Amino acid sequence: WKARHFHWEVGYVFWKPDCQEKVMIGINGQFPGPTIRAKAGDIIVVELKNSLPTEGVVIHWHGIRQMGTPWADGTASLSQCPIKPDEVFVYRFKVDKPGTYFYHGHYGMQRAAGLYGSLVVEVADGEKEPFHYDGELNLLLSDWYHQDIYTQMVGLSSVPFRWIGEPQTLLINGKGQYNCSLAAHVVAEQSACEITSSSQCAPVTFRVLPKKTYRLRIASTTSLASLNLAIANHKMVVVEADGNYVQPFAVDDVDVYSGESYSVLIQTDQDPSSNYWISVGVRGRQPKTQPALAILNYYPNAAEKLPTSVPPVTPVWNDYTHSKSFTYKILALQGTPRPPSSSHRLMSLLNTQNKLNGYTKWSINNVSLVLPPTPYLGSIKHRLANAFVTVKPPESFPVDYNVMKPPVNPNTTQSSGVYMLEFNSTVDVILQNANALSENISEIHPWHLHGHDFWVLGYGEGRFTKNDVKSFNLKNPPLRNTVVIFPYGWTAIRFVADNPGAWAFHCHIEPHLHMGMGVIFAEGVELVGRIPKEAMTCGLTGKKFMNPYP
Ligand code: C2O
Ligand code: CU
Repeated sequence: WKARHFHWEVGYVFWKPDCQEKVMIGINGQFPGPTIRAKAGDIIVVELKNSLPTEGVVIHWHGIRQMGTPWADGTASLSQCPIKPDEVFVYRFKVDKPGTYFYHGHYGMQRAAGLYGSLVVEVADGEKEPFHYDGELNLLLSDWYHQDIYTQMVGLSSVPFRWIGEPQTLLINGKGQYNCSLAAHVVAEQSACEITSSSQCAPVTFRVLPKKTYRLRIASTTSLASLNLAIANHKMVVVEADGNYVQPFAVDDVDVYSGESYSVLIQTDQDPSSNYWISVGVRGRQPKTQPALAILNYYPNAAEKLPTSVPPVTPVWNDYTHSKSFTYKILALQGTPRPPSSSHRLMSLLNTQNKLNGYTKWSINNVSLVLPPTPYLGSIKHRLANAFVTVKPPESFPVDYNVMKPPVNPNTTQSSGVYMLEFNSTVDVILQNANALSENISEIHPWHLHGHDFWVLGYGEGRFTKNDVKSFNLKNPPLRNTVVIFPYGWTAIRFVADNPGAWAFHCHIEPHLHMGMGVIFAEGVELVGRIPKEAMTCGLTGKKFMNPYP
């Protein structure tokens, strides 16, 4: 293995991700941030300098479990204090498992300002992937809003509530086209884009050789949108999900929710005289955003040679049968660790939209998450009193709660409480979806767990009942770090609390998390080694450990 060093400076940049100039948060003057490539077993060292003049920053390494390094998880209020302007924090952690990952800001809504990039971990030297490919293409998907994140945040926490709406543009590797289409010559009622190939919103092209196998690494760091990706004329075989191998299965299109990653294999076996569209569209919410397009460029055609066919059409946004059939096909590849056959604890987490003094919130068992000023990791380890609410958050919700209807009593409470998990215990979580505040609305929520992979034991419609336990898949459940709950449905997961630390488990939709849609797990914190002082410079840990007069 080797140590891979990076020097990064986070700062504002003028950028035109979709041809319109805005201020974004970039790294080393670029958007998206640099791609990290490493091999399994390597140590990543990122010296991160915060050059945002008036706000803190942290970076989370999404999908990396941080075994033994919980202070490097990059979550404000959990693993560390936000890095202050002009200060440097060193992230040092091991990437122990090959896979497709990414990184992003995890303070306020900074991810939505463009603070993200790819993190690819290849197999260690001498190891082999369980499938063959000749080349690799990397697609980091995101959505983009013209309104800045500060306006978005103020709107979300205002009375009356101001929703951020749908994104203006979908981006592939940080590039998209607003208000025009690359496919205007074949799609009616679209205006053509006038862009030069050197511009920041130039079409993304992927050069491939005919008659080869390619691995597409696909990850989504969208703020809101659930996505679907298809390639004209090409089938895809899904082989990896969230850094875990899956039983290969062939599809025409893949759904990708925020926080998820996939690898798919394609054969470049089509007519080589043509290029082909890669199209990414919106699912699960009525789309107001045009699909993003990229070009699969067969050598030796010119990269910019536009395909003459119509881009693949995204399945209808509310065709949940289609989404479910894709999601249910994801099963672990043989040889994947199996879950323990039973669990020590089962919690049911009801997802509801609620009201708190007129503010609109998301709640879990009627508790909306508020993050404390002192990071949990330090306050739990050093047993600091009054750092967060010590009332245990509820593990279930009333038996008579009707998940098919808006909440009868929409009033919610707020808390920074923690689910304390016994170290090495096996925990089952039932994520229960429900009707939101207005009738006949139940949304998709992709839930992401920090510090662990979990097994997805099953999905179901309506309210989860004890009987559903019998339907759990204990034979080949996929290991993942993000899983979706479908409208009015439930999803069951199991994990082993074997990673000492304090971990977030939350909806990966940025405005939902901001509105309280998450919980905190902590386990074995007394076993955590020495937390770097620089991670504890704020709140009560700051008072205790930072001597102002050295
Ligand atoms: Cu990618 Cu807590 O998030
Ligand atoms: Cu959500």
